Amino acid sequence: MKRLEGKVAVVTGTSPNIGAGIAGGLADEGATVACVDVVPENAHQCADWIKGRGGVALGIACDVTDEAQVEAMVARTRATYGGVDILVNNAGILGGLSVMEMPLERWNRQIAVNLTGNFLCTKHVARSMVDQGRRGSIVVIVSTAGHQGQAGNIGYCTSKSGLLNFTRAAAMDLAKHHIRVNSLTPTATDAEEGLERGVAWGRQRPERRGGGMLDFRKMVPLGQLPSPRHYARAAVFLASDEAEMITGFDLRVDAGAIAKYWPWVPHP
Ligand SMILES: NC(=O)c1ccc[n+]([C@@H]2O[C@H](COP(=O)([O-])OP(=O)(O)OC[C@H]3O[C@@H](n4cnc5c(N)ncnc54)[C@H](O)[C@@H]3O)[C@@H](O)[C@H]2O)c1
Repeated sequence: MKRLEGKVAVVTGTSPNIGAGIAGGLADEGATVACVDVVPENAHQCADWIKGRGGVALGIACDVTDEAQVEAMVARTRATYGGVDILVNNAGILGGLSVMEMPLERWNRQIAVNLTGNFLCTKHVARSMVDQGRRGSIVVIVSTAGHQGQAGNIGYCTSKSGLLNFTRAAAMDLAKHHIRVNSLTPTATDAEEGLERGVAWGRQRPERRGGGMLDFRKMVPLGQLPSPRHYARAAVFLASDEAEMITGFDLRVDAGAIAKYWPWVPHP
């Protein structure tokens, strides 16, 4: 018996990187998956990829900042598969600028996608779950940048730290309905798996860029950066009945990054 057999999941932000890794991981455990993205190819190619692996999936183009589109996305998933049991709020805009450089328009868009998009998807999926009496699980994708101050990334750090307490507050609101809300914290992610998936989807492999100033692998205690499949395993656990007594919790899949004493370089 697969761990998510019979469950219907909505995963937002299904680029070949983390969103598809999580969507594929849920599907491998038996979940039916609605792959949701503002970029239609990301939604449809992810769904086709899951179907090609023997799963059941549907691609839906949707901007998570637009409430009417979010309502329509939830309604379509429900009409197609009968309801929603799992939501993974993964859509996000990465990167940014410092507090003095960040243009208001860019700040507003990043906050809208990273925070308001989570709110709207959670709101309408939770309403659907309550309406149908489904005991669901909602997973919010954060980042180690939500736990620490990173220079040159003001909108991202602010929005991701907001999601940590959004998760706790939503968990309290939804506890009486037996809907669990937890967050999952990824960190700097090994790019290889996402790039290979992009190639499998018929995309061109981007040229290798020169590394940044920091060698992240030397900084994490486990000496290896996580890949999307590692996040997928944690998302499957949080979504499954094995986590039935866990809500309002942040599960870090960060190779030990946040637990580390800050000046220690484990692999110099
Ligand atoms: N890549 C990393 O190293 C890393 C580290 C920590 C956390 N994260 C988090 O993981 C998540 C996925 O990251 P990724 O690296 O796969 O990024 P990505 O850019 O490959 O994927 C993000 C997806 O979100 C979609 N999206 C953006 N705006 C949207 C909107 N308004 N409505 C619907 N979809 C929208 C994009 O089209 C894209 O497909 C993000 O929330 C990110 O903050 C990533």
